[in-house]
Amino acid sequence: MKLTAKQQWMLDGEQGWPQQIAMRMLAAVGRALDAPDLIPASSAHLVIDGTALGAAGREFLERLLREGGRFAIPASINAIAVDRRRATVSGAGEDQLRMLEACEKMGAMPSCSCNPFIQGIRPGRGETVAWSESATAPYVNSVLGARTNREGATALASALTGLTPRCGMHVAENRCGQVLFRVTADVVGVDGYSLLGALVGREAGARLPVIDGIAIPPSEDEFVAFSAAFAIYGEAAMFHMAGITPEAPTLAAAFGGAALPKPVIVDGRALDEARYSVGPGAGGRVDVVSIGCPHASLEQLREAADRTDGGRAAGRVAFYVHTNRSTYDAAAAEGIIGRLERAEISVTTDNCAVVSYDRLPAGTRLATNSTKMALFAKSVADAEILFGSAEQCIAAGLSGHWTGGAE
Ligand code: F3S
Repeated sequence: MKLTAKQQWMLDGEQGWPQQIAMRMLAAVGRALDAPDLIPASSAHLVIDGTALGAAGREFLERLLREGGRFAIPASINAIAVDRRRATVSGAGEDQLRMLEACEKMGAMPSCSCNPFIQGIRPGRGETVAWSESATAPYVNSVLGARTNREGATALASALTGLTPRCGMHVAENRCGQVLFRVTADVVGVDGYSLLGALVGREAGARLPVIDGIAIPPSEDEFVAFSAAFAIYGEAAMFHMAGITPEAPTLAAAFGGAALPKPVIVDGRALDEARYSVGPGAGGRVDVVSIGCPHASLEQLREAADRTDGGRAAGRVAFYVHTNRSTYDAAAAEGIIGRLERAEISVTTDNCAVVSYDRLPAGTRLATNSTKMALFAKSVADAEILFGSAEQCIAAGLSGHWTGGAE
């Protein structure tokens, strides 16, 4: 891989250890992926989850700071392992807060969200960026038309150097469709798009899918739900929606002019089967309600408050809505948070939703409108999943009874 004189200088350690370690990481990844060179990135989105990184991650970030590491480009932070309003300054909570503090001192903004788009953090069309958190990459590539790979620790290296290897989604030819899905079913709502994202992600695997047949462009919340599900059930970093997403003005353009493959048909039956495989839970008791994976927008918070007005979470139901701090503040100013709290709904900020459920007893019946949450709750807490719309989940939270699925 070709490096400029300045990049070689950084790799040789002439600009200090933080830049050297970052350049080593980028050079190794670039060489492994046959990148010809490194290109400028204009922003980075970092995962510094304390649960995964622990004390070792905290020590590494603090050393970067101590040794003069500073971010060369704007950097945002994904959802973390604690709610800063409630975090304890000891143990794992302390490690997480110190990691965040080190990143802030290096120049990151403490966005603490897996839905930074609702905080106004939105790369523009054609921009080269380095974003980690699998769920954000498909949205960045597909909906915004910016360019990122599904980064990991390399996003931190990009933040320190302002560079990323020219490979994967940064190469135009790799952004063409490889598999076609023709949707004949009606897809509506955050849960509907979350389900479609799971189905397409699972079927497409590592191939870049083109989705045809969507008549009405999805809303912002629906696109975010689709992207998160698509990323976690599949491996690709991008999708096209023919006639809707910016790089797919036509079906032919989405495939880069290549012959169209035989379509995979997504009809009502296919969606019903996907719905059953995500959340087979039958009607009956509900223990937990989870809204906000990815973090809920102001619109979703407003909807939750409107649907709960006057009601209260049923006695034994733990009812959660997860969001980020700036959306919470905007909702509080509108009186939405007060209404949710009067309904005995816990609104968390900053943290990944999963953190709230890692100590649930096996067999907990959890209602959600997110197929991503469904997957995590099954694996982390062995929960029985009740999957449905926000309306169904909220009604279940108030009554204590799930009426969706097979009775
Ligand atoms: Fe966000 Fe955690 Fe869900 S990072 S998308 S709330 S699993």
